[in-house]
Amino acid sequence: MPRPRVFVTRRLPQEALDLLAAETELEVWPGDERPPRDVLLRRARECDAMLTTIEDRIDEELLATGDGHLKVVANCAVGFDNVDIQSATQHGIAASNTPQVLTKTTADLAFALILAVARRVVEGDRDVRTGQWNHWRPFAYAGPDVHGSTLSILGMGQIGLEVAKRAFGFEMAVYYYDPIRRLEVERQYGVRFCHDLPSALKVADFVSVHTPLTPETRHMIGRKELRLMKPTAILVNTSRGPVVDNTALYEALRDGIIAGAGLDVTEPEPIPTDHPLLSLPNVVITPHIGSASLATRTAMALLAARNILARLKGEDMPTCLNPEVFKARRR
Ligand code: DGY
Repeated sequence: MPRPRVFVTRRLPQEALDLLAAETELEVWPGDERPPRDVLLRRARECDAMLTTIEDRIDEELLATGDGHLKVVANCAVGFDNVDIQSATQHGIAASNTPQVLTKTTADLAFALILAVARRVVEGDRDVRTGQWNHWRPFAYAGPDVHGSTLSILGMGQIGLEVAKRAFGFEMAVYYYDPIRRLEVERQYGVRFCHDLPSALKVADFVSVHTPLTPETRHMIGRKELRLMKPTAILVNTSRGPVVDNTALYEALRDGIIAGAGLDVTEPEPIPTDHPLLSLPNVVITPHIGSASLATRTAMALLAARNILARLKGEDMPTCLNPEVFKARRR
């Protein structure tokens, strides 16, 4: 019997590729850049499984192309706004993501951005390198303290909670806003619930965004919301770029409506080098590296590979996003 065909859209950690290669006919798209659309569509028609990343658009067109053949799309990310889950289900294709394995690594990065913006780490480094730091001055690079301040977490999922735990180490008061109240988390960790977004924005010295991108959260932080924040506040986003309206953010930072921002995600990605946000000293932007530790990227790829193998063998997938697909029709 021919082995199932698997297409991996990027070079991934070898352990995950070895796992797949042991049981499948594996093709890995060479290099670090996304395969062109026509290649992706062709592979959807030819393969039993695809291992994708956040840059691959897994939409109705692609899923319809795979109907009758493609059994699973395993996205190597916790976020899955690039995958049309409803369409996948309609076409009988299982989809999975990689939750949990990247939670702590992403929370570390959110905290790194909080510290970097508040303590002006990147600005200082830039000045040292360009010879602009020539003597110690009492007010140079003086920003707000992180310890003892107030943090609001928007979206109290696993990553939000890990950020809260780090904040407690810095003696911060932690508030959160989430459409679902987490009484257990409140009891266990002492985080405080805000009944609405404005209250969470008004109270905070730091606001850290951890919501998935959905039609409801697109531009959830816009002009009106930024105006509710303290003029000394710092906004950090490690979720998805379009959750924050970049134009509104630029104006707010330029006009002193808020004091700074740390962004691991932008709209679009990559952000163009002539984007106005990059002209501001009070912004730190990293290239979507929330989950970028070697161990975590390996764990993500392994989890994606395990989802594929489980689906191909007819076993339970570890992190299936649309288990209803198995009720709809079994292939
Ligand atoms: C995710 O997992 O959703 C990240 O954004 C990519 O690592």
